[in-house]
Amino acid sequence: LTATYLLPNGMKIPKVGFGTWQSKDGEEAYQAVKTALETGYRHIDTAAIYGNEESVGRAIKDSGIDRADLFVTTKLWDTALTTEDAAVEINESLNKLGLDYVDLYLIHWPNPISSRPHFAQRNERVWRAMEQAVRAGKIRAIGTSNFHARHLEPLLEVAEIKPVVNQIMINPTDQQEEIVAFNQAHNIFTEAYSPLGTGKILSIPELQDIAASYKKSVAQVVLRWSLQKGYLPLPKSVTPARIKENADLFDFELDENDIKTIDGFHGIAGLARNPDENSH
Ligand code: A2P
Repeated sequence: LTATYLLPNGMKIPKVGFGTWQSKDGEEAYQAVKTALETGYRHIDTAAIYGNEESVGRAIKDSGIDRADLFVTTKLWDTALTTEDAAVEINESLNKLGLDYVDLYLIHWPNPISSRPHFAQRNERVWRAMEQAVRAGKIRAIGTSNFHARHLEPLLEVAEIKPVVNQIMINPTDQQEEIVAFNQAHNIFTEAYSPLGTGKILSIPELQDIAASYKKSVAQVVLRWSLQKGYLPLPKSVTPARIKENADLFDFELDENDIKTIDGFHGIAGLARNPDENSH
């Protein structure tokens, strides 16, 4: 769980992150993050729109873990359209989290309804605030979420500090191959949210067979697939036993045939959303 990937800017990032989308603010998110940190997760992923930054921050503080040993990500919401808006939202997230800096800050969605059709200009404007926050020491790395090539291309042209991460929904039934290939071609690291397909793919019978053959759960097999593809999965759970299960991934390896079988599940559930029909 403390194993790391290297980001394109040289930062280390723990290979499994703890997802908090749909973890309710208050006791639920607080306890989930607290359990995750006790279990050994050192990478927590939240967002302004999840509405749980205060609870996440409180759990981080109460854990007593050194800030330097944690990797914390949050995200800029669609209401930020200008450089000034984004600067305000960055400070608000830091205040809610109770942190001096976040490790990674992402534009949550590429194309907010209120910026259409000028998404490229909006993204450039908010990126300037993110770059300023990097220079001011409030953010260590910046990136995007839910971006397709057409959203990343104009950003890459104007970015002074390049995006190091693009966080997208990836699980065996939604493999987003085009975006992954674009990320790889541009040295952008791929994070996978909803790596369990929001829990909807765990009943696929072939996955159950594979899991049984390794004496692991389906969730563990699916997360292991994500790691072996080189992605960084961000499983979400508010259930202590599952939080622990989802962290127990480093004592087995899927063989090539099983990876191929799982690769073949692409498209059977179709959960991924079009970023132009956002959002969370
Ligand atoms: P819960 O939070 O109630 O434990 P994803 O990370 O793909 O978005 O999936 C999250 C969903 O999957 C949540 O509904 C979560 O439920 C459920 N979940 C998380 N881990 C497991 C697991 N190990 N086994 C079964 N369901 C899980």
